[in-house]
Amino acid sequence: MLKSPTSSLAVLGGAPVRTEPYPAWPVFDERDLEAVTAVIKSGRWGGYPYPGPNTREFVQRFLEMQGGEYAVAMANGTVTMEVACRAAGIGWGDEVIIPAYTFQATAAAPMAAGAIPVIADIDPETYCLAPKAVEGAITDKTKAIIPVHLGAEMADMDAIMDIAEHHNLIVIEDCAHAHGAQWRKKGAGTLGHFGSFSLQSSKILTSGEGGILICKTQELAERATSIIDCGRPHDQAGTQITMGANYRMAELQAALATVALERFPAQAQQREDMAAYMDEALSEVPGIRILKRDLRHTQRSFYRYIFAINPKVYGFDHRVMCYALAQEGISCWDGYPAMHHYELFQPQISRLPVPSAFPEHFQFEKMQFPEAERAAEQEAVWLDEAIFRAGHKGVNDVIAALHKIYDNRVELAEKAKSL
Ligand SMILES: Cc1ncc(COP(=O)(O)O)c(C=O)c1O
Repeated sequence: MLKSPTSSLAVLGGAPVRTEPYPAWPVFDERDLEAVTAVIKSGRWGGYPYPGPNTREFVQRFLEMQGGEYAVAMANGTVTMEVACRAAGIGWGDEVIIPAYTFQATAAAPMAAGAIPVIADIDPETYCLAPKAVEGAITDKTKAIIPVHLGAEMADMDAIMDIAEHHNLIVIEDCAHAHGAQWRKKGAGTLGHFGSFSLQSSKILTSGEGGILICKTQELAERATSIIDCGRPHDQAGTQITMGANYRMAELQAALATVALERFPAQAQQREDMAAYMDEALSEVPGIRILKRDLRHTQRSFYRYIFAINPKVYGFDHRVMCYALAQEGISCWDGYPAMHHYELFQPQISRLPVPSAFPEHFQFEKMQFPEAERAAEQEAVWLDEAIFRAGHKGVNDVIAALHKIYDNRVELAEKAKSL
């Protein structure tokens, strides 16, 4: 339906499909200014004593939206996962399974707790952790699994929880992209033992920086609170002393996050409507594969909308596609590298201490995760959520740009040789 103008590609000097920028993020209104002003005037800006009134309110409202009974607000969505590990007693020498396609924080967090991240490949249909790969990575040192709900997808939580139960493992859901998402009508982050959310400025619920950790039990939440509050006791008896540090959420952040929650349902609805429109329109573009729509994933959230291109159809890979799309005015990205290609795992430059007890997990040159490599090096195109906030025109421009690129793919493949 939405065919391209057959004019020359912007990357070849033609007119771009879209000239106006997509809407900025984050957004704010008078409510943010009032909330922050009230905190400033109260004199209680930080997170001590923990939790302050704004933090308490944010945690309660977040749980009302996401589900779950207990949560602890923190400084960001990396320490949330480190604290989850430590609250569950995971530490030196323990192994934690993480997906091969995610942000580096998913590996850094268990490492900060002293654990060893063991990488497992992804499911090519969702780009999330593949349950079969998890099973293959389990050893007698394995203590936890961190599935990441990536972009607009969720990992197969039925299969992951089955594996975890069978092997007595802790599950920490990395929900940095999954605010508002649901699996079988249960909130992301409430299926495992912990659900870790980032409120960093690019995230769909943001307070600039921040994080929140949903905990399955009161006991885990009390331990987590103690760890983020410099080890102070937060158990009922007030006697449990832990090694901790200051990972508290500040009151200023909590005030912003609470206002952001008020705006969230309307934003989520718009993203969902536009994503359904995008699904349909994209299915008509040759050489494009949309990721799986699993019916158990009853509520999608949209941090980024990821689709795959077939490089054989186009004659170039996703990097060239993203470059050409960007020239057409489309906000997009070619995504994360495969986890084992981050600097952290590069033998020449990494300062990662390879534990002498488990050197097999750090044989960098032997690491191979073909599905993650295919996504990271060939296929994945990550569309910004701002596209959805630009309404039908925002999506139509993406589709027009993709048709235009497809129609001119031979010329672009030629140009790509010199890019
Ligand atoms: C998948 C994933 N996990 C964890 C994080 C870490 O969150 P933060 O930046 O709040 O530490 C991010 C993003 O920043 C992320 O994208």
